[in-house]
Amino acid sequence: VQAGRIEDARLWDRSVLDPIWEQGRATLFQGDCRDWLAEAPPNSIHAVVTDPPYGLVEYSEANQAKLRAGRGGIWRIAPKLGGHQRSPLPRFTVLEPSDHAALYEFFYGWGKVLFPALKPGAHVFIATNQLVSPTLYRALLDAGFERRGEIVRLVRTLRGGDRPKGAELEFPEVSAMPRACWEPWGLFRKPFGGTLAANLRAYGTGALRRPALELPFCDVIDSRPATKAERKLAAHPSLKPQDFLRQLCRASLPLGYGRILDPFCGSGSTLAACEFLGAESIGIEADETYVRMAISAIPGLAALPSR
Ligand SMILES: C[S@@+](CC[C@H](N)C(=O)[O-])C[C@H]1O[C@@H](n2cnc3c(N)ncnc32)[C@H](O)[C@@H]1O
Repeated sequence: VQAGRIEDARLWDRSVLDPIWEQGRATLFQGDCRDWLAEAPPNSIHAVVTDPPYGLVEYSEANQAKLRAGRGGIWRIAPKLGGHQRSPLPRFTVLEPSDHAALYEFFYGWGKVLFPALKPGAHVFIATNQLVSPTLYRALLDAGFERRGEIVRLVRTLRGGDRPKGAELEFPEVSAMPRACWEPWGLFRKPFGGTLAANLRAYGTGALRRPALELPFCDVIDSRPATKAERKLAAHPSLKPQDFLRQLCRASLPLGYGRILDPFCGSGSTLAACEFLGAESIGIEADETYVRMAISAIPGLAALPSR
């Protein structure tokens, strides 16, 4: 594949180990990230910044087909507001205990194949939500990672759904659950032996980069949803904003160099943030539609100025 060009051949005819696209310092693969990780060279990744399918089912082929046909499934197609179509959001309150068990199994298996690919001390920033985070975090701890905190992305994403379904008028004074005003990002690290200073010298990992010499990296980050310009470039239903991702990617490379992996890269927003920062990045995406979207979106997203 030539840099920046997309072939007409069906993308999914390729092996997950052949890059589908390379430009600048970004490399994109199409396939199941677990297959890619199983083959990845050990100790080769400095950091992971990723936004996985929170409940798994929302990115299943069946639910993606329903979303694309405008029929919903787990995706709540929001009513038009003032003539504007609002973007669909998945409803995680419909997850059954068996869905949580499947979620645990998936992320435990994922954590197990991710672990050897990471350098000792590599950080993993992983998006989640208030309903599924305990299951995700338990799976990553059981897979051998250490918890290093949680990033609070201040943003209002889970709109609506807070009133008792079908009984909004009968119980007007009731909220079914708290309206989410922040998005949790789990922060994990691959354990290492010896001192932090020795690990920094040996692998360039183990710590977080400060935003400025006198400022530590803080765990509450003011954020906003992706801008109109970003959504125009990348119409992914779970698009994360460049401003926020640039802060995480920068923090994830304590000495300012290294390779960042996004194994669930969607429209390539993490790779674009890395391009902006001049960092090497690897993205993996299973869905052909989103792979095509990433190839067309990454250069434009990377070129957007900071807000
Ligand atoms: C929440 S979205 C990420 C969106 C991304 N943050 C963005 O800004 O575009 C998760 C993505 O993971 C992909 N995915 C799901 N399972 C996968 C797997 N096993 N391997 C690779 N990608 C997968 C989905 O197709 C989806 O695009």
